[in-house]
Formats: sequence, structure tokens, C-alpha cells
Amino acid sequence: MSKLRLAVIGCGDIASFTALVSRLVPQVSLSACCDVNAERAQGFARRHGIKQVFTDYADLLERAAVDAVYLAVPHHLHYPMVLQAAGAQKAVFVEKPITRTLPEGLALVEKIGTARIGVNYQYRYDSACYALARAVQAGALGKIHSMRINIPWRRTQAYFDGAPWHKTIAQAGGGTLITQGSHFLDLALWALGEPPVSAMGYTATPTFAVEVDTLAHGIVETRSGTLINISSSMAAAVEQAVTIEAYGERGTAFYRNLPLPSVKWIGVKVRRESPPERGVHALQRSMAGFADWILHDKPFLTPAVSTLPVLAAVDGIYQSAVTGARIYIDRSLNLQP
Ligand SMILES: NC(=O)c1ccc[n+]([C@@H]2O[C@H](COP(=O)([O-])OP(=O)(O)OC[C@H]3O[C@@H](n4cnc5c(N)ncnc54)[C@H](O)[C@@H]3O)[C@@H](O)[C@H]2O)c1
Repeated sequence: MSKLRLAVIGCGDIASFTALVSRLVPQVSLSACCDVNAERAQGFARRHGIKQVFTDYADLLERAAVDAVYLAVPHHLHYPMVLQAAGAQKAVFVEKPITRTLPEGLALVEKIGTARIGVNYQYRYDSACYALARAVQAGALGKIHSMRINIPWRRTQAYFDGAPWHKTIAQAGGGTLITQGSHFLDLALWALGEPPVSAMGYTATPTFAVEVDTLAHGIVETRSGTLINISSSMAAAVEQAVTIEAYGERGTAFYRNLPLPSVKWIGVKVRRESPPERGVHALQRSMAGFADWILHDKPFLTPAVSTLPVLAAVDGIYQSAVTGARIYIDRSLNLQP
């Protein structure tokens, strides 16, 4: 196999971006697409030169000539669709989060066994996030005692009205924390290389008449005692830069995603590492990484099992927000980011 024949399932918001950057990945061929909304599927196929178009996922799995599927569908569909695709012997690249809840994620990873399932936490492939994570992993900042993540993002009512599944816990699993915050919490856990062991949190729903959180604050403790403090919002008046600060015994790393991803080192000199794939955007590098994993067995940064720790941390913050208690995460799960 020299090219990965990929089917895009769910031709909505993120799929449009992913399809554009995937066209820059030479080892990927966009070969089929599927959406329950036939007009959307047809329009997507036209824009990306795709000939095999479906409105039924099972039909696509049975008839399309593809090696892998990219699932960009609402969160509650991740679990059944990953299982179905794995059962049809397809490699799967599923959008984050792996599933809507931790029990679903744990059950899924157990059921898929050795099947190749990747999750699109593309910030692990962001050039500056990658440099920060590798510096932390290499011990360049010394032991990290604290990380602080701030995501002051803005969504409009149209975001919820255009895709109403985002409004409900039953379909989305939660709001800003699981949908946006989990990207950067995943990055922090991966950088630290440690599972979360406890979490506390508060959630609120300013600005929008929806069931899910549009503001979430949480503290996650990792196995060696690092405290990660996260604030994730969809309700900022103006969208501002995401920042990640990592405070170590020898120095600090400071990440900003705007105007371009950058990382500054304070108190230490660090030899900056580049992500293992080339490309103009993290989404492109993440897709290239997935394709190289399937085609050439090159290590991929976000295999399914490595994204369970962030789901456990999100689950802990949500449970704490409801109960008011500190939530202890089951250590026997052996979660490894
Ligand atoms: N990686 C990122 O940066 C990023 C950014 C945004 C969204 N996402 C993730 O992408 C996924 C999709 O989010 P979105 O914002 O694009 O949602 P969306 O609502 O814009 O798109 C989802 C699409 O799935 C289609 N769909 C629903 N049920 C289907 C089915 N049974 N078969 C085929 N198609 C079906 C819908 O018609 C819709 O077109 C979510 O997991 C979300 O968290 C990731």
C-alpha cells in the first residue's frame, strides 16, 4: 500500500478543515465520504473531488474501496462507529475525545485489541506544543511541580444552533472542557508522561442556554504530585490566545498559540525539538502521522489507549463539579498518556 485510501465520515465543520489539509499529505487519498445529510455529503464530495459518496455508514463500510475511516461525527457516535469500522477491518482515525464517557473509552480500548485506532489530539503535533512536551519529557525544566492552562475561547449561538448535539450531555458528554479543554489537558498529561490520580472542578454555563458547560475550571493531580490547573471557556467576549505554562524546578516554559504557535523558555536553555511529521498545520501533521502509522508502522503520537488519561481527568473534573468532592481516579486502570 503506497497511499492510504481514506473515507471521511461526517462532513461537518472540522471535516472541512481536515480534508483541506489532508490534500497536502501525499500519502493520503480522500477516496470516499459519508454524511446522513445527503446535500452536505454531495457538496463535500464535489469540493474535494471524491467519487464514492454515501449517506449510510454501514453501506460505506461494506462497499467503499478504502483502507481507513476518519470519523468526524458527534461524540455519542464515536463508540459504536469505531467498533463497527474495526469489525470491518478498517483502520480508524477518530476525532477527539475518543468517546463521550470514561466507561465507554475503557470498554472500547478493551474491545479493539490490537486494531489500529488513532485519536485526533492534533496539538501533540503542534510545533510549539511538541517542543514544550519534549522539553518536559527530557527533564530540561527539572521536575515540573505546576502547569497552568488557559483557553479563553469564544463560540456563538450559531455554533450550538448549527450543530445542536453540542448542547446536550447525552450527545456531547459535556461542553468546553471535553470539547476544547481536553486538547490541552491531553498535551499536559502527555508532556508529564503520568496518569491523573485525582481531580476537582467547577463548571458553569454563562452566555448560552444549553445543558453543557461553557466555562470549566479544574485542578488535576498527577501520580508524582504535579498540579495541572485548567480554565476552559467558550464564553470570552473576544477569542484570545491559549496559553500553557509549565513550571519546573529549573525553569519555565510558556506556550501561546497566537499569532503563531510559540514557546519561550525562562531560566533554562533548551534545544527545541520539531514534530516527527512535516506540514503547515498541526492537523496536517497529525493526519500524516496517522497515515505513516498505518502504511509504514511509524510510531503515532496519539494511539487510542494513550488518550484514556485525559478522558479520566475530564471525567474527574465533571464528577467533582457535580458532587463538590475531590475525585480519586482508579489507579488500577493503569492509564498511560
Ligand atoms: N480536532 C479538532 O480541532 C476539532 C475541532 C472541532 C471539532 N472536532 C471534533 O470533530 C467531531 C465533529 O465535530 P464538528 O464540530 O465537525 O461537528 P458537526 O456537527 O459540524 O459535524 C458532524 C457531522 O456528522 C454528521 N453525522 C451525524 N450523524 C452521522 C451518521 N450517523 N453518519 C454520518 N454522518 C453523520 C452530521 O450530519 C454532521 O455533518 C467531534 O468529535 C468534535 O469534538 C475536532
